[in-house]
Amino acid sequence: MDKIQEILQQLSLEEKIALTTGANNWQTVSFEKYGVPSVVMSDGPHGLRKEQVDENNPNVFNSVKATAFPTASLAACSFDRKLVGQMGKALGEECITQGVDLLLGPGVNIKRSPIGGRNFEYFSEDPLISGELGAAYINGVQSNGIGTSLKHFFANSQEFRRVTGSSDVDERTLREIYLTNFEIAVKKGKPWTVMAAYNKINGCFATENAKYNENVLRDKWGFKGAIISDWGATHDRIKALIGGTDLTMPKEQATAEVVQKIKHSPELQKVLDRNCERLLALALKVKEQRDKRKKESFKRSLKPLEVAQKVAEESLVLLKNKDQILPISKKQKITFIGDFAKNPRYQGFGSSHVNSIHVISALEAVSKITEVSFSQGYREDGQDALQLRSKAAEKAKKSDLAVVFVGLPETYESEGYDRSHMKLPENHVKLIDAVSKANPNTIVVLQNGSPVEMPWADKVKGIVEMYLGGDAGGQAIVNALFGIVNPSGRLAESFPYKLEDHSSYLFFGGEGDHVEYREGVFVGYRYFETKKMPVRYPFGYGLSYTTFDYTDLVVDQKDDKASAKVTVTITNSGDRTGKEVVQLYVSPHKGNIIRPVKELKGFTKVTLQPKESKQVSFELDHRSFAYWNVEEKDWSVETGDYDIIIGKNAHENILVQTIHIVGDTVKNQKLTELSTIGDLLKNPNGVKYWEKISDRFFEAVTESGFANQKTDTKQVTADELEEQKNNDMYKLLLSLPITTLSQMIPEYSLEKLKQDIAEVNHGSWRLY
Ligand code: BGC
Repeated sequence: MDKIQEILQQLSLEEKIALTTGANNWQTVSFEKYGVPSVVMSDGPHGLRKEQVDENNPNVFNSVKATAFPTASLAACSFDRKLVGQMGKALGEECITQGVDLLLGPGVNIKRSPIGGRNFEYFSEDPLISGELGAAYINGVQSNGIGTSLKHFFANSQEFRRVTGSSDVDERTLREIYLTNFEIAVKKGKPWTVMAAYNKINGCFATENAKYNENVLRDKWGFKGAIISDWGATHDRIKALIGGTDLTMPKEQATAEVVQKIKHSPELQKVLDRNCERLLALALKVKEQRDKRKKESFKRSLKPLEVAQKVAEESLVLLKNKDQILPISKKQKITFIGDFAKNPRYQGFGSSHVNSIHVISALEAVSKITEVSFSQGYREDGQDALQLRSKAAEKAKKSDLAVVFVGLPETYESEGYDRSHMKLPENHVKLIDAVSKANPNTIVVLQNGSPVEMPWADKVKGIVEMYLGGDAGGQAIVNALFGIVNPSGRLAESFPYKLEDHSSYLFFGGEGDHVEYREGVFVGYRYFETKKMPVRYPFGYGLSYTTFDYTDLVVDQKDDKASAKVTVTITNSGDRTGKEVVQLYVSPHKGNIIRPVKELKGFTKVTLQPKESKQVSFELDHRSFAYWNVEEKDWSVETGDYDIIIGKNAHENILVQTIHIVGDTVKNQKLTELSTIGDLLKNPNGVKYWEKISDRFFEAVTESGFANQKTDTKQVTADELEEQKNNDMYKLLLSLPITTLSQMIPEYSLEKLKQDIAEVNHGSWRLY
């Protein structure tokens, strides 16, 4: 008998029930007599928030001193798996030094709207980036023998009514957008635990949702760990146990009624055993890792602040660089303007809030390399202060160049509530106006957790998007401004001109406890690109101090199936070492399925010395071309042409090659007599059948006088369908129900038609 079964047999029912909830806010229950330790957890994700245990004063600020790393919104812009992995490793080492076994992160939820209050904690609007970087983070943390909790599973993309609301989303959108991120992170990262979100999904609480927790996450994706409820997300202990939530956090004493119910139900006891097995496995894993560390005497391999700085440097995004105003030369007379230069906004608010060791401001960092003047520019409390603004403009006038530090104050975005607009504070906008009027050589540095509108963008020469840079953010900004670092971040989300342009705008927030994701799969750039809607800065956008050339795109297809190897050569054509993010998008030509015009299917980051070239390659597989087929309950690929695009960003294609793919054969699609002739022709058996009957059909149509001349349509085969589908005559024919055949052909009864359709249905379908 294995150890877990042995312990399970010794535990009383009450002990088992106790195991499925916390011992307190941050620990699981221990059973020393059976060798089961208590697992110690902490937030996460971008720094350690280990609360100083004081049961009477649980306070988000009362945590041990730790390093704040860049938040996920910034780290995502690195597009760099290795770097995010390193951040994870450094975080894992922080956990070890503080006796934490399990770090509550990463958060990989999709940024459905730019105003989601917790967007700063999440990576991207795109599931590939979110999943890949989530996996990298997990692998980094877990390489130390420290566990992670991948959160918040799932479709948790707003804070409004976050504990009671239901995300009402169609299955295809769930699969393609809101689950793919988790799927990648689970399969590639193998997190020790997953955190079930607060919200409901289509009416069922995430903590009770066996369909996804058990059938998808565990059975389909192979997740082997434990599921933990978000703090307070369990509403019904029994439903949660059945729904696959193994651990309810924080501590919640089971009622006598719950105990009685389980006591009298052998089925519930089985469920309880199943969940306890998973929790025992987690506790034993923790014990094993602790024992291992004791033997090996742990030593940090990374300096957290250095890693935090590197992540910030390689992630910040240069959005504008008119007249090559950047990098700044030290010889210039420079002024830094704005309170954020001195008191930076560097992390988000809520459960991820870190008690920083030392925050380096841009002002402090710049003082180490050159002299700059400083003026506050605006009041922290948001009140208008003409005097501060005038002083700043005066300084700007007397300088060669002004750097204005603006962004979103902490109260603007937070866990727990969403923004209602995408604007900067008015006093920040007025400052940009005043300074840029006084000196056209103005550079704006933005510190914000999520996108802002930039109606002032044309008035300034440089824009740096810093997001929330962590403790060393100020150092990273200065290094980028002065060219010590060459910016290489790319936006992991679209920056629309205005909130109203966004596909989620009409429905975000929802009504009462229901929020319908009516934009479906058209999230972020998937919408902007398909709709041909201009944006301020597209997904994937970012500039460098050097330039890159792309050549030699080769798409190697072994056969006409859905897989290909893609190679492309990148050359640094400038005179500075730089890093380029190579982005591969797949664009299906129009088929029968409504799809985004392009989707990111590969990315990699390369470092290139001046004039150096490197070849990068991507493997595309079935999934790279597939959509979620609701009838088949599986991923399907349609027959057709697909563009393989190497893009500078989601909007700008650099190299394109078109390939043809023969799609999948599917089983569950059945014709009925109300299917159309077009549907019939999508089925190889149907085509044969059509060829047999179509002559007679056209004769009958001509005899009946519906057509004044015989239309030669009988040769419409599936192959020709593509060419003919815009011809009006064909459009009409293809959309007629099959019953039209028996209506038009006198000797062809409905009975016979039904028999023939049954025959056709015996065959299998190819997706056209
Ligand atoms: C948050 C989680 C967090 C937990 C513990 C919840 O309110 O949603 O992300 O890990 O609290 O602090």
